[in-house]
Amino acid sequence: MPGPSSQTFQMKTILVLNGPNLNLLGTREPAQYGHDTLPDVERLCAEAGAKLGVAIECRQTNHEGALVDWLHEAGREVAAGRMLGVVLNAGAYTHTSVALHDAIKGASVPVIELHISNVHAREAFRHHSFISPAARGIIVGLGVKGYALAIEALTQL
Ligand code: DQA
Repeated sequence: MPGPSSQTFQMKTILVLNGPNLNLLGTREPAQYGHDTLPDVERLCAEAGAKLGVAIECRQTNHEGALVDWLHEAGREVAAGRMLGVVLNAGAYTHTSVALHDAIKGASVPVIELHISNVHAREAFRHHSFISPAARGIIVGLGVKGYALAIEALTQL
């Protein structure tokens, strides 16, 4: 049996999920979302992870079911002790998706809900979130720097 000194240290992962239209960051409504592109955001996340000693995996999709599948996968990774949780910017699905609410609860995955813009200072249809009641925490309106804060929060839970 290998002793503790011969065991390799397994760095834990944080999954950063971006939903619909976030692939358009940089050119999409810069007054709301700023000028950083999705690759800029993913670089920022990787840098935050490197500082905190966690591996970062970033994915983006415009499809609700893909987010559901990835949340289920994350739940299995968390249960196996390989993942800390998920930073989730579900975009407009935040305001519509019972399926994402159920996926977070069903997979028992710690989620930090994130919005680049302050959704509460915008249209009334953005004020309700199906994600919030299932999330461990919420970061709203702090721009793309919120992703680094959400990653740090998951390391401290
Ligand atoms: C968003 C806010 C949502 O209301 C919107 O549909 C998005 C982006 C944000 O990051 O501020 O796509 O989640």
